[in-house]
Amino acid sequence: MSFIDAKDSLEEIKKTVLQTLNRAGNDRRSAFRFIILNTIVDKYPNSRYVVLRKFDIQKQELFIFTDFRSSKIKEINEHEMVSVLAYDRQKKCQVKLKAKATIHHNDQIANKYWDSLENGKDSYNTINQPGTAKDSLQDAQQMKDEYDSQYFAVITLKILEVEILQLSSNGHIRALFDFVKNTGNYLVP
Ligand SMILES: Cc1cc2nc3c(=O)[nH]c(=O)nc-3n(C[C@H](O)[C@H](O)[C@H](O)COP(=O)(O)O)c2cc1C
Repeated sequence: MSFIDAKDSLEEIKKTVLQTLNRAGNDRRSAFRFIILNTIVDKYPNSRYVVLRKFDIQKQELFIFTDFRSSKIKEINEHEMVSVLAYDRQKKCQVKLKAKATIHHNDQIANKYWDSLENGKDSYNTINQPGTAKDSLQDAQQMKDEYDSQYFAVITLKILEVEILQLSSNGHIRALFDFVKNTGNYLVP
């Protein structure tokens, strides 16, 4: 079963995309749980997988957790426009987003999600900055004695544009939604 069907209207397609992102933010098994976040560094794209921790369907915002010292934070500070890519292999559906990123560090949002984190605090508590070169694995993995939210950051991504491509043997379906102008179109696949 595909996500999108030839019978679906543009409005239904848009709704399906938003509901799918919403589910991914709540369901660890969703194929869209892992998304590729693309930033710009020195005029080149830089990509990495991140976990979609939450989707705010009203505000149309994605939530990502990260280490405040990671390269993506610096890159977003320099260039707040990002893109996101995800693919559900079973449903044969690709979603591409353009978004405006905002960094939350030591603020109400960061504190709220830090408090809700049960496991995985290790990811934000290495002694050394992520990406630092070390001679031994032990040095690279060294953790602080006590965990705190000093390096924990939440990145919110406000959707500006969504492009969806549903692969189908009956004809691929491609559509583009501009969330700023509130418009939608089919595209030639
Ligand atoms: C499946 C998967 C999920 C990941 N999820 C996250 C995540 O939610 N947040 C994060 O900062 N890094 C995550 N990473 C690690 C990043 O891909 C990346 O290696 C790290 O954040 C450093 O990126 P940067 O130096 O470009 O900032 C994940 C990696 C994989 C393979």
